[in-house]
Amino acid sequence: MTKQVKSKERAVKYGEVFTGKREVDAMLDLVKQEAERIDSRVLEPACGEGAFLKEILKRKLKTVKEKYAADPREYRRNSILALKSIYGIDIMEDNIQICRQALYDIWNDAFTEYAKEQADEQCREEARSILSKNIVAGDALTMLQNDGLPITFTDWNPA
Ligand SMILES: C[S@@+](CC[C@H](N)C(=O)[O-])C[C@H]1O[C@@H](n2cnc3c(N)ncnc32)[C@H](O)[C@@H]1O
Repeated sequence: MTKQVKSKERAVKYGEVFTGKREVDAMLDLVKQEAERIDSRVLEPACGEGAFLKEILKRKLKTVKEKYAADPREYRRNSILALKSIYGIDIMEDNIQICRQALYDIWNDAFTEYAKEQADEQCREEARSILSKNIVAGDALTMLQNDGLPITFTDWNPA
């Protein structure tokens, strides 16, 4: 289970208190249709380690499986689409690393379980590249990255 507070200093300075799974589920149930829609576009401007984004990705991927399990090409295209439409910002670099990795693991576990030996490195590389651009370390108030450059997001078009 994820700890909700990493340190008192971070909680005071950055308001860093992570949301528990039960609360995340209850809140996403309020927007159930959108949370399950494969291409619904989501931006979390203070995403932390991804409590909400992880659950949204799981729900989107469940929809992908329900709709496209019989068609490997469509499964693959839509599982990438589910990932492409999720965006996150957090001011703490370590949170961003953890969030990216967690989203990748969720996506890759689903992809590997579905495609088995057909699961290819090219598709995995595409997923990693999307996450490196969509999940960004920066300040959501100034919209500047931690390196001072403006935060910009790619509007990915379906392939
Ligand atoms: C209350 S926590 C919520 C994290 C996550 N949404 C969750 O529910 O678990 C607030 C988050 O905002 C981040 N944060 C604080 N100031 C920020 C800013 N100016 N821009 C982006 N993120 C910020 C913190 O690092 C922390 O991860």
